[in-house]
Amino acid sequence: MTAVETWLTAAHDDRLRAGLTRRTDVRRHPKSRAGLLDLASNDYLGLSADPRLRAAAIRAVEEYGTGAGASRVVTGTAGCHAELEAELARLTGRPACLVFSTGYAANIGVLTALGSPDTLLISDAHVHASLIDGARLSRSPVEICPHNDLAALERLLRDRVQPRAVVVVESIYSVLGDATDLRRAAALCAEYDAFLVVDEAHGIGVAGQGRGLVHAAGLADAPHVIVTATLSKALGTQGGAVLGTPLLREHLVNTARTFIFDTGLAPAAAAGAAEACRIIAAEPGRVAALHEVASVIAGAAGVPLAPGAVQSIPADSADQAVAAADRLHEEGILVGCFRPPSVPDGVSRLRLVARAGVDVEGAERAARLAARWSRAGAAVSV
Ligand SMILES: Cc1ncc(COP(=O)(O)O)c(C=O)c1O
Repeated sequence: MTAVETWLTAAHDDRLRAGLTRRTDVRRHPKSRAGLLDLASNDYLGLSADPRLRAAAIRAVEEYGTGAGASRVVTGTAGCHAELEAELARLTGRPACLVFSTGYAANIGVLTALGSPDTLLISDAHVHASLIDGARLSRSPVEICPHNDLAALERLLRDRVQPRAVVVVESIYSVLGDATDLRRAAALCAEYDAFLVVDEAHGIGVAGQGRGLVHAAGLADAPHVIVTATLSKALGTQGGAVLGTPLLREHLVNTARTFIFDTGLAPAAAAGAAEACRIIAAEPGRVAALHEVASVIAGAAGVPLAPGAVQSIPADSADQAVAAADRLHEEGILVGCFRPPSVPDGVSRLRLVARAGVDVEGAERAARLAARWSRAGAAVSV
């Protein structure tokens, strides 16, 4: 074995011993999901299979081709990008929007564009990997704020030595499913002259009749609040966005490296997501259906109802979580299985996603089984 193979084999063996290997099984691909109860994907409103999105995507391919062909600042901006930016701004009530090729790129883009050695970046302890990576690349000093601890946030803002500050949170957290008190966080940021970056990956299409938690908190017009979004969850396609003032948009177009040096979003994804925005605004029943499923799942699992789609059931161990997820799969139920390092509090868990249009009775049974099987000893022979 070469030295490199020895190195990778040792890393693989460590993961195996800790029960932390990840898989990319084809069975989890949408095409193989027929007949399964999908409580794992982030297609919260079931829009990824909506014929109207498909038709919009096909029209865009016919009009613009399959790829944008270049960076948005070279020749890669097409009418579908401008249309999507207008639809996203309309849905969320924000003054301006800039679309990126993924939510990951949007988060890295905004934090690196705002960061500098004299800008303190204060990041909630539970934020997504893309925000952690953005903070690392931002050249800013970084403080990690204990999760959802606004008293600690105020101390960090008040005691900072840097002239500028950027606070980074998620509106609804992706693994635990809990929310930020955005009104209080935004008020603190206004008081201490800081930007508040809110990742609405799990808020848009879910909270505030689908317009997001920032809109629901009455902050759509707040110029110091910046929203980031993904198009790959409730909006059913692929891509990302930053929403804020026209001045912020102009700053990002000129400084966000993941925008400038990245090929523009594929036209099919842009047109599909624009159609999703229109559907969310026109059909509030979809969002209401999602919340009905969420309360059924939380009730059946005996966990507190989380404000978004994600309902989180703690497991007794990583192995228990995997065994429970596998057993549920045998029952025809797909759930997320999150283990370290993907769990911010170190607790392995099953993540059940409430989605509009799923079988409500099936979701109730799935939640009951998930809660039972994630406990040690109860396990997988039931
Ligand atoms: C909170 C959060 N932010 C950002 C992202 C990245 O979005 P995308 O998948 O569009 O890159 C995700 C996706 O998993 C997420 O959960």
